[in-house]
Amino acid sequence: MTRTNYDGASASSLHGPLADRPANPAVGREVPHEAAALHVTGAALYTDDLITRTPGVLHAWPVNAPHAHALVTALDVSPALDVPGVVRVLTADDVPGINDAGIKHDEPLFPTEVMFHGHAVAWVLGETLEAARQGAEAVAVDYEPLPSVLTLTEAIGAGSFQGARRTVSRGDADAGLARAHRRFRGVFEFGGQEHFYLETMCSLALVDEGGQVFVQSSTQHPSETQEIVAHVLGVPSHAVTVQCLRMGGGFGGKEMQPHGLAAVAALGATLTGRPVRLRLNRTQDMTMTGKRHPFHAEWEIGFDERHRITGLRATLTSDGGWSLDLSEPVLARALCHIDNAYWIPDIEVHGRIAKTHKTSQTAFRGFGGPQGMIVIEDILGRCAPQLGISAEELRRSNLYAPGQATPYGQPVRHAERLTAIWSELQQRAGYLDRVAAVEAFNAAHEDTKRGLAITPVKFGISFNLTAFNQAGALVHVYKDGSVLINHGGTEMGQGLHTKMLQVAATALGVPMSTVRLAPTRTDKVPNTSATAASSGADLNGGAIKNACEQITERLADVAARMINCHPADVRFVDGVVTGIGFADRQLTFAEVVGAAYHQRVQLWAAGFYRTEGLHWDAERMQGEPFKYFAYGAALSEVEVDGWTGAYRLRRTDIVHDVGDSLSPLIDVGQIEGGFVQGTGWLTLEELRWDTTDGPNRGRLSTQAASTYKLPSFSEMPEEFHVHLFERATESGVVYGSKAVGEPPLMLAFSVREALRQAVAAFGPGGIEVDLGSPATPEAVFWAVEAARRGRPEPALAASAASEAYAAGNHSGAEVSAVSGSYAQA
Ligand code: MTE
Ligand code: MOS
Repeated sequence: MTRTNYDGASASSLHGPLADRPANPAVGREVPHEAAALHVTGAALYTDDLITRTPGVLHAWPVNAPHAHALVTALDVSPALDVPGVVRVLTADDVPGINDAGIKHDEPLFPTEVMFHGHAVAWVLGETLEAARQGAEAVAVDYEPLPSVLTLTEAIGAGSFQGARRTVSRGDADAGLARAHRRFRGVFEFGGQEHFYLETMCSLALVDEGGQVFVQSSTQHPSETQEIVAHVLGVPSHAVTVQCLRMGGGFGGKEMQPHGLAAVAALGATLTGRPVRLRLNRTQDMTMTGKRHPFHAEWEIGFDERHRITGLRATLTSDGGWSLDLSEPVLARALCHIDNAYWIPDIEVHGRIAKTHKTSQTAFRGFGGPQGMIVIEDILGRCAPQLGISAEELRRSNLYAPGQATPYGQPVRHAERLTAIWSELQQRAGYLDRVAAVEAFNAAHEDTKRGLAITPVKFGISFNLTAFNQAGALVHVYKDGSVLINHGGTEMGQGLHTKMLQVAATALGVPMSTVRLAPTRTDKVPNTSATAASSGADLNGGAIKNACEQITERLADVAARMINCHPADVRFVDGVVTGIGFADRQLTFAEVVGAAYHQRVQLWAAGFYRTEGLHWDAERMQGEPFKYFAYGAALSEVEVDGWTGAYRLRRTDIVHDVGDSLSPLIDVGQIEGGFVQGTGWLTLEELRWDTTDGPNRGRLSTQAASTYKLPSFSEMPEEFHVHLFERATESGVVYGSKAVGEPPLMLAFSVREALRQAVAAFGPGGIEVDLGSPATPEAVFWAVEAARRGRPEPALAASAASEAYAAGNHSGAEVSAVSGSYAQA
């Protein structure tokens, strides 16, 4: 029997290395999303659509606390039970197992201490949603308000932190700074982001005659939802099955936060014996669930005479909200991405997590990577004018070169792709002509200015935590030759299922039309990792390919006897089975399958995949946590109106590396979507909490689409070109592809940096431009005002920088940005 060697060294001739593609593969074809027709006709089923098919369903509604921080001193549910239609009120007393929504045991499901405004202290079940809502209003709760910590500044001042502190370092940061020709330091605080998936959090729980719990949940991590439901109910995992049909977007928001909600629904179902549906409406979802972490960064950087970075010292503080959730791994990824695409020889970056009385911040596309990378991009954008060179040149001359390694010790393999992508992008976008055109435009217009910027992306692919880099699949071939696949990944619109159908069709050598994919369920594939870290296709694709190869290996024996050739010479292409040199003897896949069945050959297989070659010391923050890096670069052009700060995104060009694409339409869609979502984070989307001492302290003020501005069609670049980097086979990954889900989000730095360029054009030049993040029109307006005043370089002392920081909070929001440069070393 042959073995598939995933590092590609010595494989059988039947199955080549993992990255190799057979003849006429289904991968690489431009196929539409597998459910596109269902999405656009409204026929696609989401979890909440199931309630019309579920008789006797009860509806759940939360009792939300109206304080940022308080003790629950009394809870009386009896008035709620008098409300017609109310069936039951769930409280901590009802929990038979562990009263916790997470795995770190710092998130009580039914809390006695309210930790954020909107925290649910009890849940009401009603015959109708309206009955449950009225019941929740009737529940009588007494609170003893406590002092609260809301902003990062308050948390840092109060020393309110949680979780482990980590440091990434290499060499001697002080020595690196000391040998610099120019040094700068600054403080930068930037905002979080609401996921705003179109489908809000939803679970539907049922109990069968044997007490088995079946929870349908909009979750990126069905196995962990299963685990949490089981520990809340106090039953083993085998008593709980979780299914995810599909999600209307997850974006990281459904990696951990669906668990507690699923547990509430499951608890309600076990106590009442009736199906329970829990769906948050938009306000509840925005008020109660975690978001992208806002960060605070303090930094000091040095450059040599040739503008090369000599050293960086920084402290990143993330706002974790009330519980840890995924804050530690998010911080780890931020620390591992502060270098972005740049070589920083001597570096020391500290990370810590603030504890605040807000929603528990969580995964969001990029998972801390964007928060690390924005710091270095902000630094380079500010320092370039003070160094007297263009930001483009500063960035280009600091890009990683082959042979260099990241601060955590991982060689930057294929670093040459960064410069190749950079020049291809410039050439495709007509960079030099465009620079001249922008300069001419700016010279001719006093109150409208254009800006052009190019920024790179280098993003590590794999879960930092090595154990998560495994996946399973189940592939069934039926007697008629049709195929049903199941894998551990979830579909949230990103096209994973489409890619998995293509992988299975390729590995079995059958037409895609003969392969069907069944929804993700924990009783089909157990112990799965979250569909996250962009690794869904790498991991589950590896597992599906492995399962398919077990089947084709067995079928090859059967076919070889039928064709009279050696099993290693059997080929499966498009539903036809032949032997090398026996092209006249063609069998259909179904014929071979039928023969195999009669010979009692197993026609299904469970597949498994683990990413090879990873190691990571999470405490020392050293090792090679990533299988590879995804690379890309974007060039954006904006136009800013100096009177209002309003701006337009005129054009964006992108060259992005997805290896050899598994599915080019899907990948281009992911790049466009990621870029626009990143642009939303950096320019429009502003979360504001009530930070006054009034009665609503801690309340999220932006809790609807009316007050939280999302990118829409009108914010798309007027001209948008996405090009997939060619001849980019990634060895050691399924069919030579690379992950695509998150990295393109960070291409949006080009928009923020283009805005900075346009703002600078209002001023005399040679001075730094501070830009708040998000760079809303309001923030851009204040930056233009400052540029027009031609504000001189801040004073030399560090204290001046921090003074400027406090005064620079133009918008009144938590977001501000100021740096100061000081004496040359
Ligand atoms: N694309 C769509 N349409 N919807 C989503 O929710 N989530 C993103 C990205 N692209 C998301 C998306 C995030 S956060 C991740 S980690 C990846 O998809 C997860 O899927 P993958 O591993 O299959 O790429
Ligand atoms: Mo994505 S933030 O890893 O779910």
